[in-house]
Amino acid sequence: MSNLPFSIEEYINRQSEFHSHLPDNSIVIIPTNNLSTRSNDTSFPFRGNSYMLYLCGWADPEAFFVSSNNSGEWKTSLFVQPNDTLAEIWEGRRIGIELAKEKWPVDDSFSILEINTKIESMLDDNKHVYIIQGLSESLDTLVHKSLTTKSRSRNLNGKGPISVSDPSYILDEMRLIKSPAEIEILKMSAELASEAHIKAISATKPGIGEWEIQSIIEGYFISNKSEYSYRSIVGGGSNATILHYCANDSIINDGDLVLVDAGCEIYGYASDITRTWPVNGKFSKEQKEIYDLVLSAELAAIEACQIGAPFRASHHAASKVMALGLIKLGILNCTLEEALGDDYDGPYRNFFMHGTSHSLGLDVHDVGVISPNGEKYGRALKEGMVLTVEPGLYFADWRTDVDIPSKYSGIGIRIEDDILITKNGPIVLTSSCPKTIDEIELIINR
Ligand code: GLY
Ligand code: MN
Ligand code: MN
Repeated sequence: MSNLPFSIEEYINRQSEFHSHLPDNSIVIIPTNNLSTRSNDTSFPFRGNSYMLYLCGWADPEAFFVSSNNSGEWKTSLFVQPNDTLAEIWEGRRIGIELAKEKWPVDDSFSILEINTKIESMLDDNKHVYIIQGLSESLDTLVHKSLTTKSRSRNLNGKGPISVSDPSYILDEMRLIKSPAEIEILKMSAELASEAHIKAISATKPGIGEWEIQSIIEGYFISNKSEYSYRSIVGGGSNATILHYCANDSIINDGDLVLVDAGCEIYGYASDITRTWPVNGKFSKEQKEIYDLVLSAELAAIEACQIGAPFRASHHAASKVMALGLIKLGILNCTLEEALGDDYDGPYRNFFMHGTSHSLGLDVHDVGVISPNGEKYGRALKEGMVLTVEPGLYFADWRTDVDIPSKYSGIGIRIEDDILITKNGPIVLTSSCPKTIDEIELIINR
């Protein structure tokens, strides 16, 4: 059971904008996610489908958003779990059909038990089906059946759909640009995750377990009625050089850095922050050299997040700083041009092997095609886009394919912030999370 994070008007505006891209005689079917089994008869915590959250804010399981304009105007409905005393005794209260219609941004609501029969007749009455496939096998089958057995070419009464399309190409374009109300929630999410990182930095000491840092961060999310937006990465020592490390089961020793990549979700809107700090409160000379380089790259990348710049501008800015820094530190022995390569694919990529930015929103790796028209370096940034900036350097001590100076061996550092694109330049939504060496050392030693 949940409340709506946005006004009804905000949802109606989104639905109208979406519908304005669709032809007459269309039906839209958006299922929410399925519950996933964790073990036997227990499931993972439910998380609603982001398109469902975006269009109508329905956050409970077993639901469909359906709309159609075959009557000449758009009519929207929600199919939801009906009230059921026995089911609610076991699984929790349900909003139910009446309340769904009364409080959610739809014209009508029905029981999920009616979905197949109602959709079957709606499919008969529409030409174009827009459905997110792969979420409901029975709905996919129904749509397929109506297309193959009732298509207009075979059915002389002219009923049934003639096309099935994925509506995400329209919705993703809309979700790419955040509304002022969405930005407010993204700010809250960024702020909460910043506070969690500060708690974790302050509590760090040599000998701490990675899982203990994870519990401080995620415990803070939960204590604020939030939850993580992706599995937290807490990598101590050389675990920090594994990009998607999330075992989080090692002790972190005196002298080691810890890399923490953790974010939370508020009403489904994600934050995504990475900070790296020394567990003993003091960066060594070598750690400082690499940290300073990553931080300079991050600042340059943020500065590159300007309206009109290509999506990859942040990556190019970070890459140039990284390549030059790696040469200066003696890690690469070549010219800047050689280090960067022909197309940002030179040997600096041995140590900075991921991208710099992704969109952020209802999904932590948010939707939105980066090069919709084949743009080599991605589409131009626009006001209202929100993206991460997250350069890193990783010197895995077990690698044999590259030469790594022994003094840097085992160091992994990433710094990640969440950035809002505005006409006055980039705004760092996670700016309250400290990242200079002085700030970080001060917090740990306080
Ligand atoms: N936390 C996932 C990422 O930084 O992309
Ligand atoms: Mn991250
Ligand atoms: Mn990220």
